[in-house]
Amino acid sequence: MSDQENLPAQGPGPGTDTTPGTTATGKEVVAPEPVAPGLPAHTWRPTDVDPKAEKRAERQVAGLFVFSMVCAVLFVVAYFSFEIGDLRETDTFMGMGASNLFLGLTLGGVLLGIGVGIIQWARKLMADQEIAELRHPATSSDEDRAVTLQALTDGLDESGIGRRPLIRNTLLGALGFMGVPLVVALRDLGPNDMSPSRLETTFWEPGMYVVRDVIGTKIHRSDLQIGDLVNGEPEGLVPDAEGHLPAPVLANGEELPELEHERLLIEKTKAAVILVRMSPGDIVRNPDRENWDVDGIVCYSKICTHVGCPIALNEQQTHHLLCPCHQSTFDLADSGKVIFGPAARALPQMNLGVDDEGYLIAMDDFDEPVGPSYWERG
Ligand code: FES
Repeated sequence: MSDQENLPAQGPGPGTDTTPGTTATGKEVVAPEPVAPGLPAHTWRPTDVDPKAEKRAERQVAGLFVFSMVCAVLFVVAYFSFEIGDLRETDTFMGMGASNLFLGLTLGGVLLGIGVGIIQWARKLMADQEIAELRHPATSSDEDRAVTLQALTDGLDESGIGRRPLIRNTLLGALGFMGVPLVVALRDLGPNDMSPSRLETTFWEPGMYVVRDVIGTKIHRSDLQIGDLVNGEPEGLVPDAEGHLPAPVLANGEELPELEHERLLIEKTKAAVILVRMSPGDIVRNPDRENWDVDGIVCYSKICTHVGCPIALNEQQTHHLLCPCHQSTFDLADSGKVIFGPAARALPQMNLGVDDEGYLIAMDDFDEPVGPSYWERG
């Protein structure tokens, strides 16, 4: 900065050959036009010479900062105005989630107002003079630092921040309001009322039939041979051959209501299970899960507890279930415990039973929430 000075007049550099001639191949070389020394005459901006234009520019810049403040307030309004929930409960605007759309637009307005305001301030109102910065050693001397400090002070003076209280105050206001959306958004890091109902339970209920995924047929206890693995879902989540979704009927005859399409997708994802049959003697009998199998058929969530990949790679001999994503391995013979990989929790297991005819039913929901860990979970 200490080397800043008005650009000196300069001619062509030493050694510059401006003599016309011909190359070895006979091509004519034309001498370059000489560069006029120094800078062209300075052109003053309208705001430099016209007080009215200056005032207008000042109001324009202040208006942009006020626009930013208004957007910050609208962000808060949008945050509390739109519903976010299951897909069918979420407010939409032109097919998009209204909350995300308006939060994005208003926050964009906050930043845009401040950014464009500062640019306009610099272009139209701050000091306008050409300077050249000459190269110098990386480390500045004490003298240079003192000069730099002085230059900064001069720059602040030239920006007019002291003389233009309207711009200064609206800029400070805009910067202060910019923090409001961030403070409000912090609320999202707190407990979420929707989480327990959406994530801690699944569609499974006592007495609900386990059906094959895709074809939707009930599974008899004799259908599985030792070593077999079957993907299952609760009855009522798998459409029949005609594409119709049957209302689920519990083993005791109680009929449950049908689900709407969006809700169906969510519940189907959470409730997916795998059934594996092994020799009953291979199962490690934990006291609290003494009778959770049917003839050696055990039932676990299909969703990996690491980050939620679907799992179905079964090693028949060892009863190990391998997740293809990051190789977490679960022991299906021992309550789904993790024996390898990044997963931190066992696979949730479902207590399995049969109805009077021997078809597999759920005795209860999973013993704990399915899927990856999240921080509100115990
Ligand atoms: S999702 Fe299964 S190991 Fe990562």
